Amino acid sequence: MSDVVTMDKVVALAKRRGFVFPTSEIYGGLGSTYDYGPYGTLLKNNVKAEWWRAVVQERDDVVGLDSAILQAPRTWEASGHLESFTDPLVDCKTCGQRFRADQLDEAQCPRKPSVHPGEGPDCELTEARQFNLMLETSLGPVRDEGSIVYLRPETAQGIFANFKNVLQTSRRKPPFGIAQIGKSFRNEITTKQFIFRTREFEQMELEFFVPPPEADRWFEYWLAERERWYLDLGLSADRLRLRPHDPDELSHYSSATSDLEFLFPTGWQELEGIANRGDYDLRRHAEYSGEKLEYFDQGSGERYVPYVIEPSAGVDRSLLAFVVDAYDEDEQEGERRTVLRLHPRLTPVKVAVLPLVRKDGQPELAREVHHALKPLMQSEYDEGGSIGRRYRRQDEIGTPWAVTIDHQSLDDRTVTVRDRDTLAQERVAVDELPAHLRGRLAAS
Ligand code: GAP
Repeated sequence: MSDVVTMDKVVALAKRRGFVFPTSEIYGGLGSTYDYGPYGTLLKNNVKAEWWRAVVQERDDVVGLDSAILQAPRTWEASGHLESFTDPLVDCKTCGQRFRADQLDEAQCPRKPSVHPGEGPDCELTEARQFNLMLETSLGPVRDEGSIVYLRPETAQGIFANFKNVLQTSRRKPPFGIAQIGKSFRNEITTKQFIFRTREFEQMELEFFVPPPEADRWFEYWLAERERWYLDLGLSADRLRLRPHDPDELSHYSSATSDLEFLFPTGWQELEGIANRGDYDLRRHAEYSGEKLEYFDQGSGERYVPYVIEPSAGVDRSLLAFVVDAYDEDEQEGERRTVLRLHPRLTPVKVAVLPLVRKDGQPELAREVHHALKPLMQSEYDEGGSIGRRYRRQDEIGTPWAVTIDHQSLDDRTVTVRDRDTLAQERVAVDELPAHLRGRLAAS
């Protein structure tokens, strides 16, 4: 990542180019909630697809799940969330704002932004009290105590609740994992920082069930695997680090956790947590449901509750890290350009097809090329504005290759392929273009 990137620049680019919009903007927005625009949706889908490919598709020991956002309320008693999923909160009696007591040094006093809450001359903070982060709604026509349900604060519990179903139907035995991607909701006290921390977000979670004596080994294995995933997708090694939790930081279920942290413009922050959850979840759900949630090994006659290793990543947070890391500015032909040097597997658009001029049969050939590429990869046709401007537009959204149809193309059915990073132009026959681009994508 070059030192040119700031969060403000990333937010501006995201808005300008249709990656991320504030939710309900026409109504003045809804605190810290975001919608993904056309390019943002493509990018987000690619992040999720890459995770699914690495964690499920390319492995024999992980299967997928898509559980409901609403679960039986007992789930959250069993998981410990109703009791323990809290953050310490303080109110300021002067300005009426609320802050996380453990993050006061990251917040600003609304009346005197140069100081932290509690440090201003008029600040009057209350004692800290615990605030539960679960968002609730009610199910059914009558709204009363018994109709309250919770929007899941993590996807993991849907996996534990289905442990027996999956074990029986997928014919797996530990070590094996269940993976899930989906929305989670938390009534966060402090949001800000764009899509880094929001109240509605997506998670990519794997619960990997192992024989207890193997837990430490698998914990180390998944730390390395998950780090490798980010590096393979181009994240700068010097912006990524593993940080083991101190004992007093551990969640209520965890015996060991390490965070993969990324150096955001605001500093090192958590990208993903990898935890050894032990047998906490299966035991608790067994206790609260009365179901046996264990594995019986017919070979050895042994019966045990597996331990769980959990790599838990945020889709939105990973996307933000990839964009921040990829953001760059340089100068081309005396002009400043913004370029997203995203890994080609992540970019919203893989190839832009551009006729040099809007005449002489060039648009027709360009459309033919675009139609041939579309079934293979996300292709975009653009004939509006100077060729330089069109290249800049594609650079800004990270498109790795631009195919230009020029005068020569009409004579010999060849086109130029421009590389986003090296700017090198290569002539390729139209008929060979699909295989050529597919090869470059596969090699990236
Ligand atoms: N099941 C374990 C679990 O949920 P977590 O550390 O609370 O662990 C895992 O969350 C990941 O989910 C985080 O590392 C982060 O990437 C993402 N995440 C958590 N809260 C978030 C929020 N409010 N907004 C965006 N992403 C969030």
